[in-house]
Amino acid sequence: MAELVVVSDEQAAGALVADAIVSLIRRKPDAVLGLATGSTPLATYRALADRIGGGTLDVRGVRGFALDEYVGLPAGHPESYRAVITREVVEPLGLTPELVRVPNGDPATVEHAGADYEQAILAAGGVDLQILGIGRTGHIGFNEPGSSLASLTRVKTLTEPTRADNARFFDSPEDVPMHCITQGIGTILRARHLVLLAFGEAKADAIAAAVEGPVTASQPGSAVQLHPHTTVIVDEAAASKLENLSYYRHAWLNKPSWQGI
Ligand code: PGA
Repeated sequence: MAELVVVSDEQAAGALVADAIVSLIRRKPDAVLGLATGSTPLATYRALADRIGGGTLDVRGVRGFALDEYVGLPAGHPESYRAVITREVVEPLGLTPELVRVPNGDPATVEHAGADYEQAILAAGGVDLQILGIGRTGHIGFNEPGSSLASLTRVKTLTEPTRADNARFFDSPEDVPMHCITQGIGTILRARHLVLLAFGEAKADAIAAAVEGPVTASQPGSAVQLHPHTTVIVDEAAASKLENLSYYRHAWLNKPSWQGI
């Protein structure tokens, strides 16, 4: 079973995850972080920036791999995930820009960009801690329902609900790209620790399916059940459709504190 932690709000989740990342970086100064975009991980990045801000933690060797990128946005587009990762993660945390990779969504080279990205992750020794959000459709990364549980980084077609959800970042819904390049579910499962975050009622069905549903490509989030070290951190609203909630609370309350998440 994935560990499931219910927290009061996004800030509490961000604090938990930031503490885990700080402890990872202390153990391994060239740790490899798997970076999600979207609204969900922002509290984690802010909490991490606060912890690093004092200058007591050297993060110059920390490496990062983003989960996904749109295909076909012009270089430098403010909503490209390269730009988002630079703005929300690399700059506020003071990471070394050359050590943080994002899949290359340039249509001219996208045919081999997935294989190149897989190679780069392997060469880095794999991802130590992968931060994940989940879409209303159940996607992790941009692996929409039906994605192979063994998939690696490749081009995918976004579903219309996902394009509609992401339209808030663009001038008009039609501007949301149709295609993306995303780490596969198989890629994500190779990371050493998965941390899946979800907040709000709109994520409750996806979280219930991911944590308690059958493992199925129809609910990509359910792949986290295949991983030996997954931590799912949710607020009360996102937890509201879980059947075994009282047990998850009980297990968390009685967890030895030395274990961390
Ligand atoms: P969100 O997106 O964090 O903006 O809700 C999550 C996702 O689509 O994976």
